[in-house]
Amino acid sequence: MLSIPNHSLKLLVVGAGGREHALCWKLAQSQSVGKIYCTPGNGGTAQEAKTENLSIDSLDFPALSKFCLAEKIDLVVVGPDNPLAEGIVDALTAKGTRVFGPSRQAARLEWSKSYAKDFLVEHGIPTARHVIARSFEEGKLLIKQHDWARVVKVDGLALGKGVFVCDSEDQAEAALQEIFTTNKFGAASETVVLEEKIVGEELSLLLLCDGKRFLELESSQDHKRRFDDDQGPNTGGMGAYSPVPLYAQHREKIQKTIIAPLGLALAQGKLAYQGLLYIGIIVGKTASDDTTIPRVLEFNARFGDPEAQAILPRLKSDLLPALWATTEGKLDEVELSWAEQPSCCVVAVTKTYPEKSAKGDEIQLTKLPENCAIFHSGTQNVNGKLVTAGGRILSVTALGLDRQSAAQRAYQALAGIKFDQMDYRRDIARERSICR
Ligand code: GLY
Repeated sequence: MLSIPNHSLKLLVVGAGGREHALCWKLAQSQSVGKIYCTPGNGGTAQEAKTENLSIDSLDFPALSKFCLAEKIDLVVVGPDNPLAEGIVDALTAKGTRVFGPSRQAARLEWSKSYAKDFLVEHGIPTARHVIARSFEEGKLLIKQHDWARVVKVDGLALGKGVFVCDSEDQAEAALQEIFTTNKFGAASETVVLEEKIVGEELSLLLLCDGKRFLELESSQDHKRRFDDDQGPNTGGMGAYSPVPLYAQHREKIQKTIIAPLGLALAQGKLAYQGLLYIGIIVGKTASDDTTIPRVLEFNARFGDPEAQAILPRLKSDLLPALWATTEGKLDEVELSWAEQPSCCVVAVTKTYPEKSAKGDEIQLTKLPENCAIFHSGTQNVNGKLVTAGGRILSVTALGLDRQSAAQRAYQALAGIKFDQMDYRRDIARERSICR
């Protein structure tokens, strides 16, 4: 039996975005949770039930560890990629603190795209063809030799800005030039993955993994481009909805060709993973393969943002036992139940996002319609006022009888929120055929 200590648990959530606010919001509803610290958190987590913000840097592992030991933190939940890539889980668990999240080595599936590609190829999981470049000259030669290599990806973490989807050799060369000759991405771009382009529709599948087995969360779909109709630059995500009909249509194939080989890798000890594994899947075709099949685009080692904000409001079960069981290797003792109603999450940003952030403009909120939740990202409380502090300001998630009514309700809620230069996409959760 899954045994959770019989007292009011103390948690620490690491991160500052909408995903972390959604995690605090959901965990605060657990009867087992007494107190949540969030570091650094935002203006929304500061006001969430049971939650208090801290100002410990998420990369200052000695300070985090000291706090966890002094406060007897029962569980740390890590939101963003950076601390995972830097080894937060290894550092805190070494001192005896329980942490939800993968080790640095396991998180490599996210922080090294070339490592993830090798893993996919080794385990026979469908993905786009690729070659590796370690210099501008090598990359230039490879895009000339391989007329299919038109997606240029920096190997390391790049805040969602390290992928260039190109249509021609010239565009791919310009991307290589930007990557190798400016120092924009630092060490993250010493290696570059050149991939074949897949044209199709994406979905995000988030799995809890306890080292032995997976427990699937409901599917969702992000909208990464800045403007309506999937135009403009890639962003951290402008909205999401859940569940995704595309997943139901391809479930069998996804299970057989993606999840089953991952399960085998776990069983054979070739994947040592505890935490959340996010699989970015595209269902589509390549120039050389006209069959529409699901392929893995990427792995992330954490909850997605804004996928977490779309999914968690649909979760009827307590999240805490699921995270706890993940750290204990006991996910077989957990069942999750989900609301039938679809959700739609719309992210409100400033007009200048993703180029420029805003700071200090007052945000006015009104009462939300029923079945809506608001999750803050770039907000702060200053002298009793809620103000902007970033480019992505907040997101609103609504549940509805169907996807369209969920979206309608989310937009109705956004109409009651005001801040200077407020903007958001008007087409989240609308039918779309191609998103890459
Ligand atoms: N929504 C994409 C991500 O979290 O990386």
